[in-house]
Amino acid sequence: MPTLTTRVRKLITLTTILLATPPGFSSDLELKVDSRVTVSVWSSFSGWGLEVDGCNNTQQQACYNPIARYNLLLPPEDAHPHNPRDGEGLTLTVLNQRNAAVVFHKVFPLGYYWAHYADLQWHLDRVAPGRILVLTVAVSGTVGLRQAAHQLARLGSLFALHLTPMAHWTWVFVKGGRTISETVILQGLAQHQAHLILPLSDLPTPTTPSNQTLQQQRWHYCHRHAVMGGLCDEHTPDPLPPPPPPTLLHQSALADVPVVVTAGARHHYLYHTLNTLLTAPGAQRNNVLVVLGDAPQPTTQLLRLINVNFTKVPVHGEGNLKLFRYYRSVFQLVARTFPDAPAAIFLDEDVEVSPDFFSFMSQTLWLLREDPTLYCINGFSATGLKGRAFNPSRVLRGSVQVEWGYALTLSFIREVLSIWPDKPNINIYDYWIYIHARHGRECAYPEMSRTLHYGMGMNSNAWNEESIFLSMPLLRESYVNLTRTSDLQMNNWRRKLSYNISHATVLRGNPCSTNFIPSDDINNHYVFYYRLDSMEAGHPNVTQFFQLFTCVGTWSVSEQGHHEGVSIVTLSARATLYLVGSPYSSYSHLRPRSVSLWDISTIPEEEFAVVDNNEINKHQFKKKIRNIDMTEEKLMKILSMHM
Ligand SMILES: *[C@@H]1O[C@H](CO)[C@@H](O)[C@H](O)[C@H]1NC(C)=O
Ligand SMILES: *[C@@H]1O[C@H](CO)[C@@H](O)[C@H](O)[C@H]1NC(C)=O
Ligand SMILES: *[C@@H]1O[C@H](CO)[C@@H](O)[C@H](O)[C@H]1NC(C)=O
Ligand SMILES: *[C@@H]1O[C@H](CO)[C@@H](O)[C@H](O)[C@H]1NC(C)=O
Ligand SMILES: *[C@@H]1O[C@H](CO)[C@@H](O)[C@H](O)[C@H]1NC(C)=O
Ligand SMILES: *[C@@H]1O[C@H](CO)[C@@H](O)[C@H](O)[C@H]1NC(C)=O
Repeated sequence: MPTLTTRVRKLITLTTILLATPPGFSSDLELKVDSRVTVSVWSSFSGWGLEVDGCNNTQQQACYNPIARYNLLLPPEDAHPHNPRDGEGLTLTVLNQRNAAVVFHKVFPLGYYWAHYADLQWHLDRVAPGRILVLTVAVSGTVGLRQAAHQLARLGSLFALHLTPMAHWTWVFVKGGRTISETVILQGLAQHQAHLILPLSDLPTPTTPSNQTLQQQRWHYCHRHAVMGGLCDEHTPDPLPPPPPPTLLHQSALADVPVVVTAGARHHYLYHTLNTLLTAPGAQRNNVLVVLGDAPQPTTQLLRLINVNFTKVPVHGEGNLKLFRYYRSVFQLVARTFPDAPAAIFLDEDVEVSPDFFSFMSQTLWLLREDPTLYCINGFSATGLKGRAFNPSRVLRGSVQVEWGYALTLSFIREVLSIWPDKPNINIYDYWIYIHARHGRECAYPEMSRTLHYGMGMNSNAWNEESIFLSMPLLRESYVNLTRTSDLQMNNWRRKLSYNISHATVLRGNPCSTNFIPSDDINNHYVFYYRLDSMEAGHPNVTQFFQLFTCVGTWSVSEQGHHEGVSIVTLSARATLYLVGSPYSSYSHLRPRSVSLWDISTIPEEEFAVVDNNEINKHQFKKKIRNIDMTEEKLMKILSMHM
């Protein structure tokens, strides 16, 4: 059996001595060498490490010792890609270029193939030019690099595009500038360590004469915190305070409507979210209130700096139960503080809004007052998946939970609070409201989403996150005039929907075959009738619709989004498909006698094979793992061709 040492392969190292400043990078970002610190960085199957000047301090000081170091977790024979355990993945540490203090640290679990690369990209984008970045692989963390590998290559990495699934890699570089050290082991199990001399910058922190105090507070904040986007970008800083955005035609609809942002420790997300919110036309800063569960200093300092009101509510417990109670406290606070508000808008810290967000709300909020069959307005589109959202002016209604950037009336909030338990049987608050508090009422939501849930939690289901949320289009326009919002009122909706369904072309055959949806889909309505039964608590049976919904490319994970058993699928800007589940749907009677129901449980074997094969969608979101066969020899050849 080979010993560990015989399995060790060649370590490829590059330092500044070998590597010129990558072309295209401006030289004024070069670090002035007046003081230097020594840095060690390592990457291995047993973890990772970073030491600055050999000292052992916390984040606030000028050096750093890794918070997480592992013992060898995998016996060598078992060293293969696996789901990352807590702390494993790609580590990103950002150092202050003036004193080498750690100003940001996060581990991205890139042993997962899905979604987390987008979070890495989001963070890399928001590191200001001039910062020093340290990347390492802790145990394993390259399988999920995906598109982020290209971004790293653009930032100057030579190895990022060529890393094997189990590669160990370290990279220290200046954002927008040069590599200081880059090392890799493509195959094998050795720990490797890079020692380097880090030159520090002696450029003074920027000051601007216009508003000394505020700007000084900004740069003081940025001295200790990174990944803040334009807030801490010394070259093109975000204006502080930002100019107030333009007002809207229906601005008065938003008067006295509080915008409640729920937040905690993730101040990087919060800054971005608030920035999109406060710059969206119609935003009114003094209506915005951030309600903190956890309120660590970096968050409260940020909110003071950008002059956004905040308050704190008590939280206790763990995990989802803690969140469940937190949201109750938030609802209580809103009921107490804004008893007479016409409505309240809620937004989470990791949800960015479209520039049209307030315009959308200003045109739809009145519905909550006028139509007792609606309990919420969602900014998020329950059905606005990629390839299924076209018309920015169209608003839909359906049975759905409150979703990312939503409005409720105060009377609904009080109603929910009156039954909100301490120990629920469902501890996800929005789902609990859906099941226990909405009593058949629906929400209005846009065909094209006005919000994007971009934050990644460790608990996120990465595949869902990528296939549903990350790929969902966010409307980038503003001032969209919505089409006849009065059509959303229940009686009008029923009438128009019945009309549309009864005049639609009936589709037959197998909804999973490639020719099911007609290609001449111009200006057309289609309808498909399928078997759908009611289960306990009045929910439709998911087994009967899941494959159908998947095949036609609409939201299939749950029944949410349908209106009384009718799912509206926008196939193109002009073509709409109505899926009517019978006998569950109150629209079942519209089915012509000659049309039979498509029933997943009775279709013949060969038809079911077509469903199972899902020819239309099966190629989407397929794993493609790169660089499996990359070797040192190949890599050297590739690199020598470019150098
Ligand atoms: C670094 O600090 C940690 C925690 O305080 C301590 O356990 C460890 O022994 C220290 N290491 C060195 C090299 O001083
Ligand atoms: C400067 O900042 C202070 C403190 O935040 C603020 O009160 C003042 O309005 C600002 N002045 C200008 C001209 O922006
Ligand atoms: C903060 O809230 C107070 C009280 O509601 C309000 O008067 C003030 O305008 C708000 N300030 C900002 C910056 O939103
Ligand atoms: C929306 O309608 C208003 C007034 O009815 C009009 O001034 C505006 O140009 C319209 N906006 C768009 C994007 O069509
Ligand atoms: C009915 O069809 C019209 C015309 O295509 C469309 O604008 C409207 O949104 C549809 N209404 C419903 C409830 O589906
Ligand atoms: C749901 O539908 C499937 C397929 O028709 C059927 O096998 C199952 O028994 C149904 N479940 C319930 C709870 O009705």
